[in-house]
Amino acid sequence: MMAVGTAVIGSLQFGYNTGVINAPQKIIEGFLNDTWNNRYSEPIPATSLTTLWSISVAIFSVGGIFGSFSTGLYVKRVWRNSMLIANVLAFIAAGFMGFSKLAASWEMLIIGRFIVGLYSGLSTGFVPMYVGEIAPTSHRGALGTLHQLGIVIGILMAQVFGMESIMGNSTMWPFLLGLTFIPAVLQCILLPFCPESPRFLLINCNEELKAREVLEKLRGTEEVGADMQEMKEEARQMMREKKVTILELFRSPLYRQPIFIAIMLQLSQQLSGINAVFYYSTRIFEKAGVSQPVYATIGAGVVNTAFTVVSLFVVERAGRRSLHLTGLLGMAFSAVLMTVAMALLDQLPWMSYVSIVAIFSFVAFFEIGPGPIPWFIVAELFSQGPRPSAFAVAGFSNWSANFIVGMTFQYVEQLCGPYVFIIFTVLLLGFFVFTYFMVPETKGRSFDEIAAGFRHDAGEAGEKYAPDEMNSLGGADSQL
Ligand code: GLC
Repeated sequence: MMAVGTAVIGSLQFGYNTGVINAPQKIIEGFLNDTWNNRYSEPIPATSLTTLWSISVAIFSVGGIFGSFSTGLYVKRVWRNSMLIANVLAFIAAGFMGFSKLAASWEMLIIGRFIVGLYSGLSTGFVPMYVGEIAPTSHRGALGTLHQLGIVIGILMAQVFGMESIMGNSTMWPFLLGLTFIPAVLQCILLPFCPESPRFLLINCNEELKAREVLEKLRGTEEVGADMQEMKEEARQMMREKKVTILELFRSPLYRQPIFIAIMLQLSQQLSGINAVFYYSTRIFEKAGVSQPVYATIGAGVVNTAFTVVSLFVVERAGRRSLHLTGLLGMAFSAVLMTVAMALLDQLPWMSYVSIVAIFSFVAFFEIGPGPIPWFIVAELFSQGPRPSAFAVAGFSNWSANFIVGMTFQYVEQLCGPYVFIIFTVLLLGFFVFTYFMVPETKGRSFDEIAAGFRHDAGEAGEKYAPDEMNSLGGADSQL
C-alpha cells in the first residue's frame, strides 16, 4: 500500500499541474498583459493573449508527449530509481514557474510548464506500470484506479489553492505554480523505502529469490506460490518472444490488435473533451452565465473525485468494458445537455444552472470509465516483453490528443460558440461504437490469459470475433 501510495504522488503532480491554470486564468492573463505592456508599450492584442495563454496551457502536454514516450527507455534499466530521478524535473519546473513573475518572463512560465509536463508524462508511464506489476490480479483494477485518484485529488487541490483568497491572486500565483516542488520532496523521501517491482526482478533480472522476498512483503504472506507461478508463466512466454520494439508492436499480428485498442482507448479518454473542462472550466462557466465560476469549477473537482472513488469500488465487479461504455454514453448525453444549456442561455437565464448540472454529470461519467480505465488497461493488454513499448505508444497517443484539445479548444469555441460540445458528442459516440465491437473484458484474467486471448485471435487472422466470445475466453486458452 505504501508503495502504491508513494508512486501515485507522481499522479498527484500530473493532476495538480493539469488543474492549476484553470482558476487563475484571468490573473495570469493580467501578468501576460503587463509584461507585454512593459516590453512593447501597448496592451496585448486579444489574439496574442489567446495564443500565449493557449501555449502556456498546452505546452504542458507537449512535455507529456516526450515524457511518456521515453518511459520505455528508463524502466528497462532501473525501475524505482527512474521514478526517483524524474523528480529533478519537478524541482526545475517549480523554479522556472515560481520565478517567472519576478523575472517578468512568460518564456519562463512556458518552459516551466513544459518541464513539469515532461515529469507528468513520465509519471503516466511509470505509475500505472509499476502499480500494475505489483498488484495482485484480483485488485489490479482497483489499485490501477488509484493512479486516477491521485490525478483527481491533484486537480482538486489545485482548484482549491487557486481560489482568489488563497493563492489565485496577482501576488501569490507564482507560489501556486511553484508548489509542485512539495510532492516532489515527499516522493524523494519515500521512494527509497519502496520495493522494486517483483515482475521486473524475476523476468528482467532473473532474480527469483529477491522477487519472492519482495512479493512476500507486498502480499504480507509467505503464500506467494500462485503469484510466482503466474509470473514465471509470463517469463516463459517471453522467452519465446523476441524483444519487442515499438515498430514491432505494429508489425506483429500478435500485438497489432491490442496496440490498436490501447491507442483508441487513450484517444477516447482525451478526445472526450475532459480537459476542455479541466483546463478551461472557469471560463466555460463564466460564458454559461454562472455567477461564481470558480466555485462551480471546484464543484466539478469534487464530483470528479467522488466518482473516481465510486469507480474504485465497482471496477472489479462491473468490469472494464461495461464501465467504459457506460461512461462514454453518459458523457455524450451530458455534452448534448451542455449544448442545449449554452444555446438557450440568452432566452432562459436559468440555463446557467443546467450547464452546471451538465458539466458535473459529464465529469462524473468520465470517472466511471474513460478516466481510470485507459491508464491501467495498457498494463493488462500486454505481457512484460512488449509492455514498456506499449506504454510509450499509449502515452504518446494520450498526450498528443491532450495537446490538441488544450491548444485548440479556445479557438474552436470562438468559432462554434455554444455548439462546441457537439464535436465531443460525435467523437464520444464513435468511441462507444468502437469499444462495443473491439474491446475485450480483462477483469479477473491474468496477463498471460489476456495475451493468450489475442494470440488466439491473431491465429484466426482476418476472422472477426464477437466481443462476447472474447469475454468468455477462459484459463484453458492460456495453454495455447
Ligand atoms: C485523466 C486524464 C487527464 C485528465 C484527468 C481528469 O487522468 O488522463 O488528462 O485531466 O483524467 O480527471
